[in-house]
Amino acid sequence: MKSNLSLFAAVSLSTLLLATAASAATPPTYAEVKDIVADNCLSCHSADVAYGDVVIETEALLVNFANKAYSEVNSGSMPAGNPDFKDSPEGLTLLAYLKSVSTTK
Ligand code: HEC
Repeated sequence: MKSNLSLFAAVSLSTLLLATAASAATPPTYAEVKDIVADNCLSCHSADVAYGDVVIETEALLVNFANKAYSEVNSGSMPAGNPDFKDSPEGLTLLAYLKSVSTTK
């Protein structure tokens, strides 16, 4: 039983390492971040509610704001009132996407 558990742990760890390597090599696509932006940003950054004149409800708009959005999310300033977002799986995915489309990589 103990060796089964160790094997399970080893397989899980290598799967995790592979997944990490894959995500570093291939940045997320817009399709993968669309819902993350909708759930975490659009309540304050749509055409209807555009705090700071930031509207990021389409791919083109998000790419346009990528540099600023990256630094705001990475510093924990955005989403407003949710400084832990940047360390969540959704936050890390969004940061990887914003970095990949940012012009100041
Ligand atoms: C609860 C409301 C709220 C949410 C949710 C929110 N923001 Fe904001 N955001 C604001 C407000 C208010 C401002 C303007 C005031 C300011 O600059 O701090 C702002 C400003 C910004 C700016 C411009 C900052 C600057 O200095 O010009 C960016 C970029 C931004 N938000 C990105 C995002 C992103 C990306 C998300 C989602 C991950 C997000 N925001 C979620 C309220 C929000």
